[in-house]
Amino acid sequence: MTNDNFIVTPWEVVGDVNYDVLMERFGTQKIDPSILDRVSKHTGELHFMLRRGIFYSHRDFDRILNAYEKKDEFVLYTGRGPSGNTHLGHLMPWIFTKYIQDKYDAKLLFQLTDDEKFLFNRNLTQHDTRKYAYENILDIIAVGFNPKKTEIFLDTDYIKTLYEIALDVSKRITLSTAKAVFGFNNSTNIGRIFFTSIQSVPAFLESKRQQKSIPCLIPCAIDQDPHFRVTRDVASALNYPKPALIHCKFFPSLTGSDKMSASKSNTSIFTTDSPKIAEKKIMNAITGGRKTVKKQRKNGGNPSECSIYQYYYYLFEDKDEKVIMLSEDCKDGKIICGECKQILAEKVKKFLVKHQEKREKAKDVVDQFMCKD
Ligand code: TYM
Repeated sequence: MTNDNFIVTPWEVVGDVNYDVLMERFGTQKIDPSILDRVSKHTGELHFMLRRGIFYSHRDFDRILNAYEKKDEFVLYTGRGPSGNTHLGHLMPWIFTKYIQDKYDAKLLFQLTDDEKFLFNRNLTQHDTRKYAYENILDIIAVGFNPKKTEIFLDTDYIKTLYEIALDVSKRITLSTAKAVFGFNNSTNIGRIFFTSIQSVPAFLESKRQQKSIPCLIPCAIDQDPHFRVTRDVASALNYPKPALIHCKFFPSLTGSDKMSASKSNTSIFTTDSPKIAEKKIMNAITGGRKTVKKQRKNGGNPSECSIYQYYYYLFEDKDEKVIMLSEDCKDGKIICGECKQILAEKVKKFLVKHQEKREKAKDVVDQFMCKD
């Protein structure tokens, strides 16, 4: 029996996500071996997020590859809704986007939707979302995007540029479409209803600037797909190419069973957490281990239900052989949870120290990346 008792929207993920069912629900395509072969040829090395099916679904990614093979330019677009500090889950699609930028030498547009987070979070003021946006920008820069090929903008600082396309988009989306796609109802504030037009804009911006068709590729987790379904629906009427997408699964929380989410701070690791706090969170994580060391040694653990194993798999071990070995050692009872957590904690602490250094350095170059009206 397939479990389809879960919800994924851009603002909410509830239940155990079945990613194949979700792909069917959203009508996206699986990234198949022929696509992987082509990326392999172009890049020389497949990113582990592709090899492991973490980036697993797409819309028209093959068309982007066609464009590249014809030596046509394409633009990358991704984003962040600044509702709090950045966590490791947010970094995952950004790290992948950097890989695509580097390998395909593509320009990147990075949108920060401070307007969205103000409209969708009762407790956040406009001041709060702008403040978080500037914190998040440091993380974005720290990921290492090419400063010559990356433009970052905050909606409220760039609205004059964005508004013309947003108006064009909004005129072609009906209230009934917005209700059907996003589940809005009569008590939804009207800002939320308009918002998706703003998130559509960067998909078309480069085409408008250059006055010619520039294909756009959007790497993101699959929760953002509903916005771009709408964007794609209006594209031809506006004479723009439909944006392509490449979707990843969710980096889990430290409970192992749900998506890492900023609202669950004890089971999420933020880029601003001190190494000591991160270590504490990891040591308290839920694993797939047995109740006692004796039982673990005898019966082995269950990596498929372990948040710590997921951390290695999704982000902290890029060598496939090591991930396989870890899984085998766990199942054979050769490694116990305490050890496994401690090794991960050291890796995460090292990562945070480095990332935080880069965040500090980013403060000096923010202006080089930012676009403002
Ligand atoms: P936001 O801020 O919720 O998330 C930023 C990016 O991180 C992805 N994401 C995750 N990926 C893996 N594991 C997780 N646990 C996880 N949580 C979040 C999101 O899919 C997203 O890619 N409205 C958007 C901001 C935005 C945007 C875009 C995102 C504007 N334009 C274009 C992607 C592409 C938002 O609030 O994202």
